[in-house]
Amino acid sequence: MKTKIVVLTGAGISAESGIKTFRDSGGLWENHRVEDVASTEGWNNNQQLVLNFYNQRRKQLLERKPNRAHFALAELERKYDVTVITQNVDDLHERAGSANVIHLHGELLKARSCVDENLIYNWNKDILEGDVCERGAQLRPHIVWFGEAVPLMETAAPIVRDADIFIVVGTSLVVYPAAGLVNYTRYEIPKWLIDANDIPLPRVPHLKFINEKATIGVDYLVNLLLTEN
Ligand code: OAD
Repeated sequence: MKTKIVVLTGAGISAESGIKTFRDSGGLWENHRVEDVASTEGWNNNQQLVLNFYNQRRKQLLERKPNRAHFALAELERKYDVTVITQNVDDLHERAGSANVIHLHGELLKARSCVDENLIYNWNKDILEGDVCERGAQLRPHIVWFGEAVPLMETAAPIVRDADIFIVVGTSLVVYPAAGLVNYTRYEIPKWLIDANDIPLPRVPHLKFINEKATIGVDYLVNLLLTEN
């Protein structure tokens, strides 16, 4: 049986692809109020504003490409059983070739019905007011907003519990429940955290910190794991 690696990623892994993070200086939450564009209240107050925000993000994503860090994680699959659990709504892990990707916070290239969360459609253009699901209700971005449940946590938590190696890349680990996944890891397994900044480290045993940008840090760690016996 292959060793199981679980990788938790955040906005930092896509930063070098030209996609803004949320909380770094110049990040998305500096110029937008979270509650306006990423909450159900915001949606109820001004659908057009929310649609515009995600339409811009979607358009930008289609012009971006995966970077070395995304590709390196896909290469890990040559030797390991790898699951990527991402907070990112981009599709750069998939485009780099990762086979098992869980999107905790939804996907930018999908739209979903406002009345039935199971009606989800692939969507690579703007979502407009008047675009409706097969039940006639307005479509919204397939994004988990603040205050909403994170249904895929139930899928992700047992996978993390089962991991033999756990890697965290480019997340400030401040948004729960995603950030809490670190605490589901077994005590004895090796854990790695890669981040460009000197962020507060989670208090888990056997954690090593690689203080590098994702393209450098992930490439280094993947090489190490692929050459190790
Ligand atoms: P943040 O913006 O909170 O954190 C990004 C992290 O990436 C920080 O720790 C940075 O230091 C690090 N970073 C920046 N550039 C990097 C690089 N080139 N290489 C490596 N690390 C780098 O983003 P997330 O933690 O992903 O949710 O944010 C979590 C959630 O908050 C998002 O999924 C989003 C947001 O609100 C929703 O919108 C639902």
